Amino acid sequence: MTLVRGQGVWVRDSEGRKYLDFVGGWAVNSLGHCHPVLVEALEKQAKTLIQASNQFYTIPQIELAQLLVENSCLDRIFFCNSGAEANEGAIKLARRYGKLRLDGAYEVITTYSSFHGRTLAMTAATGQSKFQEPYIPLPDGFVNVEYNDVEAIKRASNERTCAVILEPIQGEGGVNVPDVDYLKKVQSWCREKGIIFILDEIQTGIGRTGTLFAYEQYDVEPDIMTLAKGLGSGVPIGALLAKEEVSLFSPGEHGSTFGGNPLVCAAAYAALKYIIDNGIPRRVKRVGNYFMTKLESLKQQFDFITEVRGRGLLIALEFSNEIAGELVMACLGKELLVNAVKPNALRFMPPLIITEREVDRATQVLEGVLSEQKSKVGR
Ligand SMILES: Cc1ncc(COP(=O)(O)O)c(C=O)c1O
Repeated sequence: MTLVRGQGVWVRDSEGRKYLDFVGGWAVNSLGHCHPVLVEALEKQAKTLIQASNQFYTIPQIELAQLLVENSCLDRIFFCNSGAEANEGAIKLARRYGKLRLDGAYEVITTYSSFHGRTLAMTAATGQSKFQEPYIPLPDGFVNVEYNDVEAIKRASNERTCAVILEPIQGEGGVNVPDVDYLKKVQSWCREKGIIFILDEIQTGIGRTGTLFAYEQYDVEPDIMTLAKGLGSGVPIGALLAKEEVSLFSPGEHGSTFGGNPLVCAAAYAALKYIIDNGIPRRVKRVGNYFMTKLESLKQQFDFITEVRGRGLLIALEFSNEIAGELVMACLGKELLVNAVKPNALRFMPPLIITEREVDRATQVLEGVLSEQKSKVGR
């Protein structure tokens, strides 16, 4: 299928068919497709300054950095072009901290079922063998442990450990929501050991879970946080944010040709400002809860649905068997785009501006394909 146009929460393919988009450019199109605020910012900046290299400041880069600092617990920012790159930067910064403050500690603890990106180092960080096996041997310095288990982190910590990196909710791993006190316990452990607490908010950040950043819901403050995806609402951007006390890069120790690109930063600034000024995270919470209720009622109706889980507009529907791939194709046939995050689970990550009416429409399609599935099994 080739997509040729997008508007709001709808996309069109080259055959002229229109689809309701619950994939959202992989949890990226926060404001939906071609939102006027984003388009206008791009047009204006394209006529002003497109690329400058990040050895210079540019106005859009400064404005975006300031908006992020004012609305988060972090103090300093480095812009890059993707999530994997933001995480690479986070690990480099943690290693720098380890070298300068922790006697050369360099190991980073990560969790099973996590996803941190596709570079070689982030493949080692990502605790999923399906991503790791094709590339073994992988770079050294990562220890994967059980998610939602602070004792596993404690057992894996030693004098070589410089940091722990976690997703507040695991996205690609299946929308795994940890216990409410997990992040707080991990943060306490990191503080006790003097190691860095990194949150990868690449999928959960920028309103996706019902607050601007997911960490706000868990009463913690990361030392380092990474962003990408929804930050640009469709333009490619990543960001590494850090507290002042761990910001130990000296000029030249890290860099990126396109990082902080003014065209991209102008678009991301316009999108983020719109999201903040219009209370989009609150709306995500309301519509996300509405969607969860609808999915819960499907669960009552179909006994092969085993779980509905998630927060805000990052939601999964799990089944007792591996039917997710089939369901994706059936939904496609009924002009709804969804993702099979696992062989037995669908994931929904629509634009943050989705309405209750559009949720109703998606639920109707899901009900139809689940009924067909039920009659197939019954046969
Ligand atoms: C939590 C998380 N971290 C990192 C990444 C990697 O981001 P990118 O694909 O932009 O490199 C992803 C992508 O899905 C993600 O969900």
